Amino acid sequence: MKENATKNNLMEKIVSLCKRRGFVFAGSEIYGGLAGTYDWGHFGLALKNNIKQSWWKKFVDNRRDMYGIDTAILMNSKVWEAAGHVTNFADSLDGKKFNTMLKTQVGAKKEEVAVSYLRPETAQGMFVNFKNTVDAFHPKLPFGMAQIGKAFRNEIAPRDFLFRQREFEQMEIEYFTREEDWEKYFEYWKGEMLEWMEEIGIDMGKIHELEVSDEDRAHYSKRTVDFEFDYPFGRKELFGLAYRTDFDLKNHKLDYIDEESAEKIIPHVIEPTFGVDRAMLVLLLSAYCEDEKGGEIRAHLKFKPSIAPVICAVSPLLKNKPELVEYANTKVFAPLKAEFGRVIWDDNGNIGKRYRRQDEIGTPFCIVIDFDTLTDNTVTVRDRDTGEQERIKVENLKSYIKEKI
Ligand code: GAP
Repeated sequence: MKENATKNNLMEKIVSLCKRRGFVFAGSEIYGGLAGTYDWGHFGLALKNNIKQSWWKKFVDNRRDMYGIDTAILMNSKVWEAAGHVTNFADSLDGKKFNTMLKTQVGAKKEEVAVSYLRPETAQGMFVNFKNTVDAFHPKLPFGMAQIGKAFRNEIAPRDFLFRQREFEQMEIEYFTREEDWEKYFEYWKGEMLEWMEEIGIDMGKIHELEVSDEDRAHYSKRTVDFEFDYPFGRKELFGLAYRTDFDLKNHKLDYIDEESAEKIIPHVIEPTFGVDRAMLVLLLSAYCEDEKGGEIRAHLKFKPSIAPVICAVSPLLKNKPELVEYANTKVFAPLKAEFGRVIWDDNGNIGKRYRRQDEIGTPFCIVIDFDTLTDNTVTVRDRDTGEQERIKVENLKSYIKEKI
């Protein structure tokens, strides 16, 4: 039994599985690709949406002090000048500074054309809406703003599949607090981040905290802790937590007035930041397992049911038997689909092939409707992780799955 395969070619296996099973494709592939870009297939998108929903539920919906926002990707270039990115958001290329913001232009008429940038972080969209948020919702300190959205960086060397891309997605929180409370909330958010990582099924044994040194910290940060992961290509950053001080609000000339005391202050910011694509890569790496079944190596993705792209697959044993297809469709598939949404129909190839396909998609349960079903109203439910099969009454299927997830 080889659980959690750690072979050197693990990345190749993941990349190939992602393409074969419709998770992730190379961007612009039929034209030779565009480095650092990827396209998302049905199951990859489902997994990505589940990651984002779980994040939003924990950090926005389940809290009273968080305000969601969705801001424009194109922003006035003055935002990036004030935020220090025009000067500082750079990498080094042959010893020279190279700004990694992707530049574009806005406006059609010559006299109207203005330089703009595709945002390299979602954070600034929140900072520039700080006053709008305070005026609209009258929040008391401490409170936060949260955003999920695309970010773009002209990375010098995009590499390692989803790890370093030029177009990717971030989930960010800017948490505004009084200066004297920053250390307390820094520790608090560290705990919240770790809790969510565990909740979605990241292999916590491979997570390490790194106190980022003065010379390696971003220009806006006074303290940063990176959560690193042991990828097959080395220990590298997964998510980050930064103390951005009052750097951004001060530079945008924004402040906060306490409604009770009329005191004017510039709040300080704790920023928990998460890359969606790295979360996805790390979940794939954490979930990938191989074991031996009947002399063959079986690959499967052990996703938690709450995050898996598909909760169950419904299969009539034979697709050319109308009585099985009819039963499977009306009595099993339709009610489960209505209840769980993430349910798929799979009648392609023999049962062994269907199981192997669903194992690679990470589907926790495969339900098969056979001739016995027609007489005793029971179906076979096969467990992805153990390969074991149980006969379950059709009327109990919903509660059986609910209990398991
Ligand atoms: N607002 C703070 C900020 O943007 P960052 O550490 O530069 O901080 C945040 O980026 C997160 O975005 C990272 O922890 C990582 O998960 C993700 N990320 C950054 N660059 C990336 C890239 N080129 N490709 C994929 N994800 C990336």
